[in-house]
Amino acid sequence: MDPATATINQIPKEIPNHIAIIMDGNGRWAKARGLPRIAGHQKGAEALRSTIQACIDLKINYLTIYAFSSENWKRPSSEVSDLMALLQNYVKNEINEISTNKIKLNFIGERKRLDESVQTTLRDAEHKTKNNKRLTLTVALNYGGQQEILEAVKDLGHDMINGIIKPSDINEEIFKNYLQTSDIPEPDLLIRTSGEQRLSNFLLWQSAYTEFAFTPTLWPDFNRDCLESIIHEYQRRDRRYGGTG
Ligand code: FPP
Repeated sequence: MDPATATINQIPKEIPNHIAIIMDGNGRWAKARGLPRIAGHQKGAEALRSTIQACIDLKINYLTIYAFSSENWKRPSSEVSDLMALLQNYVKNEINEISTNKIKLNFIGERKRLDESVQTTLRDAEHKTKNNKRLTLTVALNYGGQQEILEAVKDLGHDMINGIIKPSDINEEIFKNYLQTSDIPEPDLLIRTSGEQRLSNFLLWQSAYTEFAFTPTLWPDFNRDCLESIIHEYQRRDRRYGGTG
């Protein structure tokens, strides 16, 4: 059977525990239709909604999405403010549904640069969903992997100065605790849509042994079939973690 046409029930074991997604191609989707870029982001928000539902149905435990990178401030200010408004409205409008679906919502990234009202929305959403256990949805907002690592190094430096940790004690497990993702596992599978094949400063430390999947589909067109097809491809891979398998 063609894996792309398989249904959820036919997906065998070894569903990835944690999927990360770089949702790329919103602008190109809009341009191809003669629409403003924000229309692509709005359609992208719909694709996100159905992807979250697909993850729940497939019993994926962790989903991490790249919503706004540290570098996305370089976009025209009108697009930045449209995106921020879209993100804030999405969280506000969906929070009850998210909560009912037992989704735990987390945000990673530098919050200080975000508007106070956005910061409040994020805090409230995290508080409201903190005890949920079905799916942990982590949204990377004003996030950069290099910046995250540097912040971790600074915190580690303080702990060394204060005698809390010795340099000889530092190892991968200890260092992981200083990252913003300390309470979630590493991604098993990272998907990037739109045909681009790069990491763009996303989850640099965490993706050391992640399987990558690149699809030409633009994010607004991404759906359950695309996800299932990529999971099938993932299930055919041999993850050796540097060993011999
Ligand atoms: C990349 O496409 C996409 C983004 C920078 C924003 C992602 C945001 C969404 C999918 C909106 C919904 C998200 C949430 C959390 C509600 P691009 O604009 O770089 O596309 P292009 O490369 O074709 O120009």
